[in-house]
Amino acid sequence: MGNNPSNTIPERSLNRDCITLSRHVLQELKSFSPDAQDLSSLMNRIALAGKLISRRLSRAGLLEGVLGFTGEVNVQGESVKKLDIYANQVFISVFEQSGLVCRLASEEMEKPYYIPENCPIGRYTLVYDPIDGSSNVDINLNVGSIFAVRRQQGDDLKEEATDLLQDGYQQLAAGYILYGPSTMLVYTIGTGVHSFILDPSLGEFILAQENIQIPEHGPIYSVNEGNFWQWDESIREYVRYVHSVDGYVSRYSGALVGDIHRILMQGGVFLYPGTQKQPNGKLRLLYESAPLGWLIEQAGGKVSNGRENLLRVVPDHLHARTPLIIGSKRDVELVESFIKKG
Ligand code: AHG
Ligand code: MN
Ligand code: MN
Repeated sequence: MGNNPSNTIPERSLNRDCITLSRHVLQELKSFSPDAQDLSSLMNRIALAGKLISRRLSRAGLLEGVLGFTGEVNVQGESVKKLDIYANQVFISVFEQSGLVCRLASEEMEKPYYIPENCPIGRYTLVYDPIDGSSNVDINLNVGSIFAVRRQQGDDLKEEATDLLQDGYQQLAAGYILYGPSTMLVYTIGTGVHSFILDPSLGEFILAQENIQIPEHGPIYSVNEGNFWQWDESIREYVRYVHSVDGYVSRYSGALVGDIHRILMQGGVFLYPGTQKQPNGKLRLLYESAPLGWLIEQAGGKVSNGRENLLRVVPDHLHARTPLIIGSKRDVELVESFIKKG
């Protein structure tokens, strides 16, 4: 006891409680330069979007008019949920008058959305999937948001946004927010992968784990086996193989963010291959597969479209889809070897 304050203040946990997301970004970049400040503020705004969506989700079943469908169909041909629209608007609202983001592009908007007052100084674009796994929303299961920040190239402010059609290594920041038992934000800015947990009593994302490494191999395989007869024979052969040997565990939640988070922590592979109806599969390159792909690569894992490194693939339009194989290095390579044989 005595007068030593270190006996009374839990210094370690106090220090940790002070490592908020925006501070962590500056710490990682080892700089207070304008670019570093921009990235830090960008992540802070993304975190605010995560808090707003998390709050809405946690009370959704108690409020009128929050759950269910809007009756509209989006540019993907998918039925839109009210929460998809809410979350899409949240990201727009948090970036208004921010001077940060000139343009946002998401799953729920056919064309990019411009915030003209930000454009003279905000040279960034946010690409995002506001609610990933929206079929889980009405049954109170986990969902997520996926995001990436890209630098705006040139002065082309046309609706086509052709400057966005670049490979995954052009991302400046990427990550996801997982709305599970706790709300978690996992991000990379090219210096490893770091996770934060929302402390509701503080209203802040607090550092949980730094430099997360995905196991080189893991037991999980995550795929919608309902599509078995829709796949190419090589994918069926891979699945027959994991059925035939010991040590594999199947997990599939219907929300990519949750499935990838499990694989990041425990190892294994997620795959959404092409099907007869959709040869490029279901998942979108710019705002689903590339952000998660870069993050998994930053954690020591691998991402592929079955033929090549997915991060080298350039989309031919904003909503382009791609087959996705992602996770532990050895497990992704095993799937690739079946595809090659096929
Ligand atoms: P979204 O809700 O953004 O449209 O994404 C759903 C995605 C992804 O989260 C999930 O892995 C996959 O679709 C599930 O699709 P299937 O029901 O076809 O397996
Ligand atoms: Mn999605
Ligand atoms: Mn979505």
